[in-house]
Amino acid sequence: MTKQKRTKIVDILQCTEFDKEVLVKGWIRNRRFSKNVAFLSVNDGSTINNIQIVVTNPSEELTAKCSVGSSVACIGKWVKSQGDKQLGEVEAKEVTITGFADPELYPLQPKKHSLEFLREIAHLRFRTSTFGAVFRIRHAMAYAIHKFFNDRGFVYINTPIITASDCEGAGEMFRVTTMDLENLPKNESGKVDYTKDFFGKSTNLTVSGQLEAELAAMALSQVYTFGPTFRAENSNTTRHLAEFWMVEPEMAFYDINDNMDIAEEMLKYLIQYALDNCMDDIMFLDQRLQNEEKDKPQNERSDMGLIEKLKFVVSHDFARVSYTEAIDVLQNSNYNKKNKFKYPVTGWGLDLQSEHERYLVEHHYKRPVILTDYPKEIKAFYMKQNEDGKTVRAMDVLFPQIGEIIGGSERESDYTKLVTRMREMGVPEKEMFWYLDLRRFGTVEHSGFGLGFERLILFVTGMSNIRDVIAFPRTPGNADF
Ligand code: 4AD
Ligand code: MG
Repeated sequence: MTKQKRTKIVDILQCTEFDKEVLVKGWIRNRRFSKNVAFLSVNDGSTINNIQIVVTNPSEELTAKCSVGSSVACIGKWVKSQGDKQLGEVEAKEVTITGFADPELYPLQPKKHSLEFLREIAHLRFRTSTFGAVFRIRHAMAYAIHKFFNDRGFVYINTPIITASDCEGAGEMFRVTTMDLENLPKNESGKVDYTKDFFGKSTNLTVSGQLEAELAAMALSQVYTFGPTFRAENSNTTRHLAEFWMVEPEMAFYDINDNMDIAEEMLKYLIQYALDNCMDDIMFLDQRLQNEEKDKPQNERSDMGLIEKLKFVVSHDFARVSYTEAIDVLQNSNYNKKNKFKYPVTGWGLDLQSEHERYLVEHHYKRPVILTDYPKEIKAFYMKQNEDGKTVRAMDVLFPQIGEIIGGSERESDYTKLVTRMREMGVPEKEMFWYLDLRRFGTVEHSGFGLGFERLILFVTGMSNIRDVIAFPRTPGNADF
């Protein structure tokens, strides 16, 4: 084949200059034959749309080998289509099957496969329209996050993945060690001797980059991290991963109201960015969701389509409600009275479950909700304590279908209050000297939050299982690929 530059399918499909020669490369998504013509539908991942390649008088070899999943290279003429479904098609001059996919063995066929089945072939599911759309949107959201913060003067900080501290204090961490588990070194009292381990102490994978981000914010004022975080919680739900990505801004001189403002602004910005830049993919996913909804019983169907839902969130103020108010609403709800919650709302102090969060968003306030001022007992040690002695300046952002999408707070900036709380909660004060030092040397009011990146992608794509918005999900019992 003559050396020619490949043109991406997304660019050809928009080209209104016809009768030019192009080189197309991609994978066959579908094919059909009629008389002495073969029609190949080819995709290269640059767009959800396939290009049609028309091969007149295909050779016997081509006819045998142009199976679904095979890779193909084609030089041909981009010509105007007769039909109105697409602008044009490629009249093939030279077609080569560069990698044959044996139809007897290739697991992806042009029919509906279940998402569960596709999870088992996660190495191939990128080649479906659904996953192509999801991963293009995921990329666009990552880009938009950096753009949002860059445009506002934030500095991107890379916080460590291996850490000796437990930010959330929940103890659900994966251990990092080079010690021989069959033959662990022990100290005099018979306990494992971590001084013999690689780092000379016990280490884990991080659950959050927040504590280190705070250090940077105390000098650079506005920073953010965006990286992988790890939680060894044994939750097999559609919203939990053992390895997920978190976006964590941290801002000096921000109180909880500033924190809520920027969280709301960011979520709206990201969703608007998707609407402005990923419409082909969103339209496909919207249609996909409509088809899914048809199979559901009437009372489980959502009353909004994907696009409608995205536009709704962008154009409405989030409700801002205190935890105390929310408990009141929940406790007096018909849902609670009729025992419809799996976890009944017993009263103040209860840690909210996602069914409660979703009730507030979907049934009561009917828009995203920012809940603030939670009981200190159910929140992390670093949150700023309120004057009432009972609550802390936490803020969780709750979304339809998702529940909690963001968790954050104003941080305790008073040294004495922070130390007291750490002691009460058994957070090792000596090891955390560096975190406390911030409050000893030039402390300032500051705030931050963590956005679960995959939960954002769930919302924007309308997918319902978090395993379907990350390329290679890690969940209890599963670390394949
Ligand atoms: O509420 P979380 O635990 O907050 C923190 O880690 C804080 N240090 C963040 C901060 O203030 N800088 O987690 C933040 C968000 C949650 O709201 C949720 O969206 C997501 O991270 N998240 C998970 N996403 C997927 N799988 C899991 N297991 C998750 N756990 C939390
Ligand atoms: Mg949380």
